[in-house]
Amino acid sequence: MKILAFGASNTKNSINKALASFTATLVPNGEIEVLELDKIDLPLFSTDLEKEIGQPQAARDFFDKIGSADAVIVSFAEHNGSYSAAYKNLFDWASRIDQKVYQGKPTVYLSTSPGPGGAGSVLAAAKGSAPFFGVDLRAAVSVANFHDVYDAETGSITEPKTLADLTAAAEALAAKQAA
Ligand SMILES: Cc1cc2nc3c(=O)[nH]c(=O)nc-3n(C[C@H](O)[C@H](O)[C@H](O)COP(=O)(O)O)c2cc1C
Repeated sequence: MKILAFGASNTKNSINKALASFTATLVPNGEIEVLELDKIDLPLFSTDLEKEIGQPQAARDFFDKIGSADAVIVSFAEHNGSYSAAYKNLFDWASRIDQKVYQGKPTVYLSTSPGPGGAGSVLAAAKGSAPFFGVDLRAAVSVANFHDVYDAETGSITEPKTLADLTAAAEALAAKQAA
C-alpha cells in the first residue's frame, strides 16, 4: 500500500518527520513517500490573496498526494500548544480545495517533542477536529522525550513500549475498517 508520511513542520531535520517516516516502515507491505514541508513554498493564506491568485499549485499538489495515497501518517509538531504555522498555512490552503482534506484516507496521527508533553496538546486538537476533514483516523500516538527513545544512527525508535504503540498504529492502517 502507498503510504504518504510527513511531519507537520517545516524544520529541515524535523523530529516529527523522522517519527512519521520511521512509523511508515512499520506498515506491512508499505511503499513509502515522505513529504518535506520545508520544500513547499506557499504564501500566507488570506481570502483576499485567494481571490487574487486562486489555489496555488503547491496546495493542489499536497491535496493530490493525499488523494493518490492509500494511507497517511502525519506527525504534528507543537508550537505554543498548537499547529506549526507552516502546516496550518498549507492545511488552510488545501481546505479551500475541499474541506475533506484527508479524503477519507486511513490515517495515523502522531506527535512528538523533545519534552515530556510529547506535543499532546496539538495532537488532541487534531484528533478533535479530524471528523470535519475527512480523516479515517485509525490511531493516535504521542511520543514524549523524543531524543530519549529515538536512535538517530539507525533512524529508529528503540524504546519498547513506544515501538509497540507505533507498530500497532502502523498495523491499524492496513486493517480493514470496522463495520
Ligand atoms: C515557536 C515554538 C514554540 C514551541 N512550543 C512548544 C509547545 O507548545 N510544546 C512543545 O512540546 N514543544 C514546543 N516547542 C518545541 C518543539 O516541540 C520542538 O522545536 C520540536 O523539535 C518541533 O518539532 P519539529 O522538529 O518536527 O519541527 C516549540 C518550539 C518553537 C520553535
